[in-house]
Amino acid sequence: MATPKIVGIAGSFNRPSNTTALVQHVAGLVSGRYGFDSAIYDMIDVGPSLGNAIWRRELDDKAQLVLQEIVDADILVIGAPTYKGSYPGLFKHLIDLIDPHELKSKPILITATGGGDRHALMVEHQLRPLFGFFMAHTLPTAIYASERDFVDNALSSEQLTKRIDEAVGEVGAFFPATTANRVAAE
Ligand SMILES: Cc1cc2nc3c(=O)[nH]c(=O)nc-3n(C[C@H](O)[C@H](O)[C@H](O)COP(=O)(O)O)c2cc1C
Repeated sequence: MATPKIVGIAGSFNRPSNTTALVQHVAGLVSGRYGFDSAIYDMIDVGPSLGNAIWRRELDDKAQLVLQEIVDADILVIGAPTYKGSYPGLFKHLIDLIDPHELKSKPILITATGGGDRHALMVEHQLRPLFGFFMAHTLPTAIYASERDFVDNALSSEQLTKRIDEAVGEVGAFFPATTANRVAAE
């Protein structure tokens, strides 16, 4: 059986980026615990063809690859910076180019970052319904991190670490045959 793959998508245009750091952190923990392959992409990896593409076929090869990685992933970690109380418009445009059936039943671990705590529920009110449309399995625990949870774009919050650990544990329900789950059951 092929090794499952976790794909992380950070909807940020910045490098370095708090959102990408969060997605990398979470995907790293999942792949370490369950033995998955992993790949992380941000909006710079998607590139500028996205903005001009009305149809998926109009994306260049770079953007096509990222989109294909998203739909082929066994599990996704989505991370969006909060823009005006929601996810960035171009991130939504990337998701708009995915066919409704392509994310059906896919486990998705939702994360987001923001400047402060005021929009912490954007993971519940914006990101979760977006993937609900696709009938994906969003994991029960979503992660929101604000500026003060990072030092130099590295995650630095004990509270958040515990919450992330909970979310990473929830991944196990979707992959009962993994080494991590076999060890936990012994
Ligand atoms: C256009 C724009 C809109 C923003 N709107 C919000 C917002 O509504 N609420 C919030 O908490 N932070 C807001 N921010 C701050 C970003 O969400 C925050 O800096 C984010 O963590 C940046 O992530 P990055 O380092 O991955 O780019 C906004 C930033 C930009 C550039």
